[in-house]
Amino acid sequence: MIDRATVDRILDAVRIEEVIGDFVSLRKRGANYLGLCPFHQDKNPSMSVSSTKGIFKCFACGKAGNAVTFLMEHEHLTYVEALRYLARKYHIEIVEKEETAEEIAHRMRYESLLVVTDYAQKFYADVLWNTEVGKAVGLSYFRERKFTDETIRQFGLGYAASRPLTLCAQALKDGYKKEYLVDAGLCLEREGTGELYDRFFDRVIFPIHSISGRVIAFGGRTLKTDKSVAKYVNSPQSEIYDKSRSLYGIFQAKNAIAKNDKCILVEGYADVISMHQAGMTNVVASSGTSLTVEQIRLIKRFTDKVTILYDGDAAGVKAALRGIDLVLEEGLSVKVVLLPPEDDPDTFAKSHSLIEIREYIEENEQDFISLKSDLLLQESERDPVRRAQVIGDIVQSVSVVADPILRNIYVEMVAEKFDQKTDSVLAKVAEFRRKKRALDRSRRRFEARPEGPLPEVPADLPDGEEPAAVPSSGYPVRDAYLAVMERELCYYLIKFGAYPLHFEKDMYFGAEPSEEISVSRYIHDALDDDGLVFVNDLYRTLFDRYFAFTATLPQEEPEAMQQRIIRFLTTGEDETLNRAVFDLILEEHPLTVKTYEESITPEEQALAYTVPKSVLLYKLRITEQQCAATAKEIARAQRSGDSGILREQVRRLQLLNTVKNRLSKELNRL
Ligand code: CTP
Ligand code: MN
Repeated sequence: MIDRATVDRILDAVRIEEVIGDFVSLRKRGANYLGLCPFHQDKNPSMSVSSTKGIFKCFACGKAGNAVTFLMEHEHLTYVEALRYLARKYHIEIVEKEETAEEIAHRMRYESLLVVTDYAQKFYADVLWNTEVGKAVGLSYFRERKFTDETIRQFGLGYAASRPLTLCAQALKDGYKKEYLVDAGLCLEREGTGELYDRFFDRVIFPIHSISGRVIAFGGRTLKTDKSVAKYVNSPQSEIYDKSRSLYGIFQAKNAIAKNDKCILVEGYADVISMHQAGMTNVVASSGTSLTVEQIRLIKRFTDKVTILYDGDAAGVKAALRGIDLVLEEGLSVKVVLLPPEDDPDTFAKSHSLIEIREYIEENEQDFISLKSDLLLQESERDPVRRAQVIGDIVQSVSVVADPILRNIYVEMVAEKFDQKTDSVLAKVAEFRRKKRALDRSRRRFEARPEGPLPEVPADLPDGEEPAAVPSSGYPVRDAYLAVMERELCYYLIKFGAYPLHFEKDMYFGAEPSEEISVSRYIHDALDDDGLVFVNDLYRTLFDRYFAFTATLPQEEPEAMQQRIIRFLTTGEDETLNRAVFDLILEEHPLTVKTYEESITPEEQALAYTVPKSVLLYKLRITEQQCAATAKEIARAQRSGDSGILREQVRRLQLLNTVKNRLSKELNRL
């Protein structure tokens, strides 16, 4: 951990033009600097760097930020890594938050393990290049597979021989500790004698790198065709290697993935290497297993588009379909390319030029959901029972898609393909999402610590224009109309959040009346469903604080819970927020949805009507704004004559209109 004072000293020392100047050549232009933007294919210098303001902005692609965010984006560093980089550059000594003895021991152990794997990689490479057996067996194997010497060096490939050329003998002689050799998974101890022997022998070696390029593990492939010998031996899990968090090739591929805004996923080591050699450098491998959440998040640091490139045979298709819901759920868009049946990515890359590979991928990229639909549709053609299962299966995949617009596209598509009503597909999707959320919630409740610290309300709010809609607030208001509606939703949260909503049948579209849901849950899920976040800072802060707090509350009578919530929300450090909450609960008529009905029924009895109505009106307003923005995009695309964007935006507008109609329909049903 870097302490706050050090962070300040680093930021004070930074000259942004010097930081960016290390990567981009900048020319002075008046008070600013100008250079080619590295975040898109820039032809004329469009990135402006202001040394006085400490910020950069690209006028072409819109990318902007400060020196730290530049490094984070350009070098793919975390915040802390970027600070360390800057500290090194400006010779500022980093005062670490004091480490405990235990932390120091842990850090040293971790470093030691990495030193050992680094040593091992060099050892195996040395055997490959400089020994008779290495050259005769290992090197000639790689060359037979058409890997160039440059590629072999780039990926640090090696050869593990057998006695007397063992890693353990040489490493011990060079002074490496037995403990680390064993714990890094390189050597094993013979039972009884305690004598060391190598995990890898008579195998070609593929080092596995961390994202920052350090060797953390190895895969060893046998050259024997004997079925009784395992084809691959891999490093076991260790303190430095977590299989589920690593992707083969990520270090070599990360810049290309970011630059192309796409990650191509293959299965094996050889696939990655051959694709790289062919010039496709945005390729990584999951190493034969389906993707984990951690691996997906790793990809997500660089792009949100994944294309899976698998063998064209039946097994390849199955493998491609496996575990993909997880990828969709993480908000990535997934395409699938099936290769010709006789090929895998490795052979395909070797028998085609870069242009051919690119073209093949472009022409054969299939949307994942439509591929799945087509395959399952074929399979269930004459079997109504199977067909019903298939629809369920696909709707489930659709329901985990994170982006609401994309989800809508899929809903329409599935409805068309399977000849179903859009509304009924939509209702099924809603049902899956509700079930999934209930499951996630109970899981989270199970994992939640009873008295976890509350997240801080961010102290530094951006300075903006004068507040308009809510005069007493010091928070900037971004949209006065939405502010009123967000305020109303906050009102329901603060006053009735813990109260149950009783739906009568058919009252709320897609919801089963059987399930009781609290007002706060309903509001939260309804917004979350469409990926909506309050746009006005005050209400967003209030909303976040509300849910951070209520997540820790034990179940009680609604009234008692509500009192706790109000006490918490009115006694925070932020006076503005406290006051806003007071205003909400004390004011007489804060509502826009004020109907005759309400005035004659007690408010809490009308919640099942008023809360959904507020939510729907809010969504409708947002959708209308998006329509307006999209219409502008269309006009712009028409002017510039970009037919691709035009088509995309027109499609988007159509979708937004269907969403709008649906919302209006739901409103009418209330
Ligand atoms: N794999 C593994 N252990 C095995 C088999 C496979 O760890 N026993 C992993 C490896 O990461 C391998 C990937 O799954 O790269 C794909 O397996 P496979 O297609 O069998 O191997 P390839 O890498 O394609 O090997 P080759 O082309 O040399 O046959
Ligand atoms: Mn292969």
